[in-house]
Amino acid sequence: MEKALRHFFLLFFAFSLVFLSMGSEVNARASTQRHKRSNGAHYKKLFVFGDSYADTGNLGNLGNMFTASWYEPYGMTFPHKPTGRFSNGRLLTDYVASFLGIRSPLPYKYRRLEVSKKLLPYGMNFARAGSGIFDNSNFQDNLTLQVDAFQWQVKAGVFPEYDLKSSVALVSVSGNDYKYYKETKGSDTATLDFVNRLFQQLKTELKRIHDIGVRKVLVTNLHPVGCTPYMTRVTNYTKCDSTIHFEGQAHNQMLETLIKELNGAGTNTFFSLDLFTAFDSIINQVKGAPKFENILKPCCDGNDNTSTCAQTDENGMKKYSLCSNPDTHFYWDWLHPSQAGWAAAFEYLKPAIRRFLSL
Ligand SMILES: *[C@@H]1O[C@H](CO)[C@@H](O)[C@H](O)[C@H]1NC(C)=O
Ligand SMILES: *[C@@H]1O[C@H](CO)[C@@H](O)[C@H](O)[C@H]1NC(C)=O
Ligand SMILES: *[C@@H]1O[C@H](CO)[C@@H](O)[C@H](O)[C@H]1NC(C)=O
Repeated sequence: MEKALRHFFLLFFAFSLVFLSMGSEVNARASTQRHKRSNGAHYKKLFVFGDSYADTGNLGNLGNMFTASWYEPYGMTFPHKPTGRFSNGRLLTDYVASFLGIRSPLPYKYRRLEVSKKLLPYGMNFARAGSGIFDNSNFQDNLTLQVDAFQWQVKAGVFPEYDLKSSVALVSVSGNDYKYYKETKGSDTATLDFVNRLFQQLKTELKRIHDIGVRKVLVTNLHPVGCTPYMTRVTNYTKCDSTIHFEGQAHNQMLETLIKELNGAGTNTFFSLDLFTAFDSIINQVKGAPKFENILKPCCDGNDNTSTCAQTDENGMKKYSLCSNPDTHFYWDWLHPSQAGWAAAFEYLKPAIRRFLSL
């Protein structure tokens, strides 16, 4: 398992390709066609931090890596070409933005491009696929660096302070730290000491986001990692891995505790976005949950355990298979939900977000 994971990440380095052009204008159009809300509370901007569950294009601007999300069939459903999103279409960030009635915020990477004029009013997305709270390998910005970048933008006057007070932050932490820990330590579980340090760092960064001026901060809890196709592949996509499940539960309990502590008496700044229950209710087809024909099997699947979605060989031959209809799959690739998967999960999350933001 761990070996295959290393392969998966090595793929990022395996090829040498530069992308500059695409994506910007695409992101501009992301998720605008959904409802605008008219209500008392108005949130004008969204600031996004974290990993591939939230990145809408930041990863991929370095010269020396293969980043699957910049290749077909990523983006095939929306906007019909790859944009750096690890999905066939929209993902968490896009759904949160559209729920707020705003456009999906500008990826930090594009801040000097023309498109920034159009998208700056909606905030900025600092998330970077593959990143963690700690350093994971050498191409991502850890959470600290992402918050640093935000702080610089605010210092530089790009986002006025009064705007921050009516902004929402989304922090996506989807488990890259645990993966990297296990890979490098060759261990099955992270030590309590590691988890404690992880949460100490998360606490620091969440406080910084608040101190910079954001008053509403959504933090994702850990989705059912053991159910990702990457983990269920060994069972031909029939069974979730339960060992990893307990680690996720422990993480989520600690997150609850941290958020209570940070909110202290009376303030209502931080909120944990329960991805675990949202995904879990779909995966286990809890009554009333949206139905998917294919729950554990991804739409886009590597041909063997060393090739991934979007990968081709030297002759341009595909090393993956693609399903006929991504909407019938909860998972898009080994690690990420499809657009339909995100849409379904977000339906579950909406009421809690609405309450938290008093919408
Ligand atoms: C890859 O799959 C083969 C058989 O399909 C298996 O024998 C091998 O252990 C797997 N390798 C990894 C790293 O999981
Ligand atoms: C984040 O990255 C920076 C730059 O590489 C590094 O100096 C810092 O120690 C990292 N922080 C954490 C918490 O890993
Ligand atoms: C895996 O499951 C599919 C159906 O979902 C089946 O067609 C295939 O034969 C199975 N493969 C193995 C190795 O069991």
